[in-house]
Amino acid sequence: MKAIVYQKRGTPEKLILKEVEKPVPGDHEILVKIHATSLNAADYRSMQMGLIPKRKIFGADVAGIVEAVGPKVTLFNDGDAVMGDLSNAGFGGLAQYVTADEKVFVHKPENISFDAAAALPLAGLTALVGLRDRGKLQKGEEFLLVGSAGGVGTYALQLAKFFGARVTAVCSTHNVEQTLKLGADEVIDYNTTDFTTLPGCYDLVLAVNGNRSLRSYYKMLKPGGRYVMVGGSFRQIFQALLLGWLYSFGSRKMTALSFKPLRDDLRFLAQLMHEGYLQAVIEKHYPLDETVAAFKYLRQGHARGKVVIHLPHE
Ligand SMILES: NC(=O)c1ccc[n+]([C@@H]2O[C@H](COP(=O)([O-])OP(=O)(O)OC[C@H]3O[C@@H](n4cnc5c(N)ncnc54)[C@H](OP(=O)(O)O)[C@@H]3O)[C@@H](O)[C@H]2O)c1
Repeated sequence: MKAIVYQKRGTPEKLILKEVEKPVPGDHEILVKIHATSLNAADYRSMQMGLIPKRKIFGADVAGIVEAVGPKVTLFNDGDAVMGDLSNAGFGGLAQYVTADEKVFVHKPENISFDAAAALPLAGLTALVGLRDRGKLQKGEEFLLVGSAGGVGTYALQLAKFFGARVTAVCSTHNVEQTLKLGADEVIDYNTTDFTTLPGCYDLVLAVNGNRSLRSYYKMLKPGGRYVMVGGSFRQIFQALLLGWLYSFGSRKMTALSFKPLRDDLRFLAQLMHEGYLQAVIEKHYPLDETVAAFKYLRQGHARGKVVIHLPHE
């Protein structure tokens, strides 16, 4: 099968397209013929940190058709349409086929395209866990979303509206219109306005992108407010990891998000997409042999929603 294979330490520019052996499913595994895969920061950040999957194939989010099942598989049959997040299961999505434990996958709802299904898992789960579990977002609360335009941000915005929050979203001028269309109650354009100087006070702040001090976020929290750092600049990430606990002695809590994807959560998100509460924002599609160009685009940090790779099948 064709796959994009990690060759040398460093950046995605070193990835190459290669013929590799098609995998065979183990007892509890399914073999999926992949139709679409979406890229995530987790792919290139793992590469930079030298965290290389065993099969040397990156790609976490996949959607495709089950082609074979292991002898102990009970959840799926040949021909089922599925979607899954492989970030905790050895990656492998940048290939025509992948095998992974059946529990990684859920059925793809019929009315969702393979592209939309591949664009959902990791970014959607990050947004869900950040808002619901870490952020404890409640109906009617004031929510500030810093970085509303990328993969995680577009889902966080839609989920926060689903949970009944009042959403103030921060993005660049270029993405103001999209952010309003996705349901933000208020949008702050970071090109013209420094949101940390505004009087707003929030029950929850989700920092998805950008580079702001922990102190400036702390000052924006109501008593009892929560700050959850999802990603952004290395400075933003390290501050939250190292100093979050210091700021959390009082009623305000500041944490960094890390989580393992759960099947029930992915099923919940797929159901929301099926019912029309969530839509996938996909800015660009690339064929498998242009994966390096796709990563170059994503790494510039201004992709609007998701970047999807199409897998070739005759
Ligand atoms: N903690 C976890 O478990 C976890 C899981 C998944 C992802 N992450 C992290 O979350 C972050 C976002 O992931 P992603 O997949 O959503 O990335 P992404 O799709 O590449 O995000 C791109 C978006 O970031 C926005 N952006 C760039 N600079 C910004 C700024 N200064 N302020 C506000 N928005 C800005 C851009 O919008 P504009 O063009 O409008 O600036 C763009 O649309 C990454 O750092 C990733 O590593 C963490």
